[in-house]
Amino acid sequence: MGLDEGLLGRVLGISVGRDEMGGPDREGLVPDDQLFIGLDLASARAFDQLGVFQVDGPPRSTVLDTPVASTRFPAIRPTYNRRVTAPDAPGHAAGRVFRRSLDPDLPVAVSAYGSTIRDAAGREYLDAAGGAIVVNVGHGRSEIARTMADQAARLAYAHGSAFTTEPLEAYARDVGRYLPVDDPSIYPVSGGSEAIETALKLARAYHLARGETGRWIVFSRWGSYHGNTLGALDLSGRRPLRRPYEGWLGRFRHVSAAYPYRAGEPNAQALGSADELAAELERAIETAEPDSVAAFVGEPIVGATLGAVAPPDGYWEAIADVCRRHGVLLIADEVMTGFGRTGRWFGMDHWTVRPDILVAAKGATSGYWPFGFVAASGEVHDTVTMAGPFVHGFTYSHSPVGAVAAREVLRILDSEGLVDASAVKGERLRTSLAARLAGHPIVGDVRGRGLLVGVELVADPATHAPFPRAARVSESIVRAARDRGLLVYSGTGSANGVDGDLILLGPPFVVTDEELTQIVDVLRDTVDSVAETGAPREAATG
Ligand SMILES: Cc1ncc(COP(=O)(O)O)c(C=O)c1O
Repeated sequence: MGLDEGLLGRVLGISVGRDEMGGPDREGLVPDDQLFIGLDLASARAFDQLGVFQVDGPPRSTVLDTPVASTRFPAIRPTYNRRVTAPDAPGHAAGRVFRRSLDPDLPVAVSAYGSTIRDAAGREYLDAAGGAIVVNVGHGRSEIARTMADQAARLAYAHGSAFTTEPLEAYARDVGRYLPVDDPSIYPVSGGSEAIETALKLARAYHLARGETGRWIVFSRWGSYHGNTLGALDLSGRRPLRRPYEGWLGRFRHVSAAYPYRAGEPNAQALGSADELAAELERAIETAEPDSVAAFVGEPIVGATLGAVAPPDGYWEAIADVCRRHGVLLIADEVMTGFGRTGRWFGMDHWTVRPDILVAAKGATSGYWPFGFVAASGEVHDTVTMAGPFVHGFTYSHSPVGAVAAREVLRILDSEGLVDASAVKGERLRTSLAARLAGHPIVGDVRGRGLLVGVELVADPATHAPFPRAARVSESIVRAARDRGLLVYSGTGSANGVDGDLILLGPPFVVTDEELTQIVDVLRDTVDSVAETGAPREAATG
């Protein structure tokens, strides 16, 4: 018995072996007890950390310290590799694309319409997360595809340093009417992280232009996400994503999350009162060198890191006031909350606070084109541009094809009343989910605004004690929901940077009442099944 090289499935460059004696079943399914790993101890540990395996029974070190190569580990339970990469399994790919999931069982998506995605095997999935909370206007909008094709045929590309284009100018004029920013100008880019990087540099350029050359420091919050490029990641207070790259991070500073559910809990780095939060930021600014703080960045309603968490009443007004009094620019990260997601055009519209700089992406083009932008107030724009060129740029910024896609999305949102639909349907989704999950033994909280709804899963709703990370509860929910034809988004680390399980829902605004009912029913069934079979009884100790 041993590893058969021919049967290795390559997942993220790490090989998983299968018992050559067992043989696959008809569809390439491999019973759990036939999985073998042929790894040295260090690799096995790394593999375990990546979450491919869970180790139950004996303590991890005992299991992994046994001789490893070609050895059966009955105590190692594969969580993802229920199906080896099987080129001949219908609807499943064995390709050379670097996947974003360790799951070798990824279905092949082939078409989508409304809130439904279909795979190559003909299976349908109700997209209750709009991908990563992106597809605001719904899948399969041929009018957007047509306008993009027309534009690409006419002019696909003209470099932003040499030309402006009519589609871009038209979009900037149109979107400006909806943005909660005074006299806005936009800097279009290819996504949220690029937009955040652009906003940071713009804030710095603004202070430089004003002669305030000492203003470098940027504050953001724990329990936040601003993107995965190094600057945006550094700004993010999302500890599970920061952890592997900590040695490259540290330029930005973090204050507490506005997270009433876990306010004051050890290691949550969260407060629940607007006054306390504003006072903490003010202290942090005053403790820094005088005139050294450039900007404060926050998501109006926190998305994937905390799971649709709105701050306490008065928070944004108080934060904006602190920023103004200290000459600090307020940057609203509306990548997830923008374009109707929370039931208003922008998240900041819930509080009538007008940031100096606003960052958008995701719903701006609803997934039809990689697009994002920074909107700067007239004051910021004019100050920077009158001082000279803004030292920044990307090859794929200022795309005319992106601009027509974004403009068509804007037209659809407006003409079909989809922002109001998000408010009404979101209320319905949140209240029926809260009712169906009320008193559930692993549900701590159901919250959100508009069609951005979060569910926090806990080992003990009375104490908020989270499940230990090793239990991988949110991953189990995502997988079990997908097995039931429901796509949900998830997050981890909300309780203390490691433990904490979240499910985030963000369906397209065209979701029907029947589909909303289906989301609630299937999610309840999924949570029940994971609670019964997958979730350990004990809470995290860390
Ligand atoms: C609030 C927020 N900011 C920034 C980003 C980064 O956007 P992107 O993934 O398009 O780079 C995200 C992505 O999820 C986000 O939710």
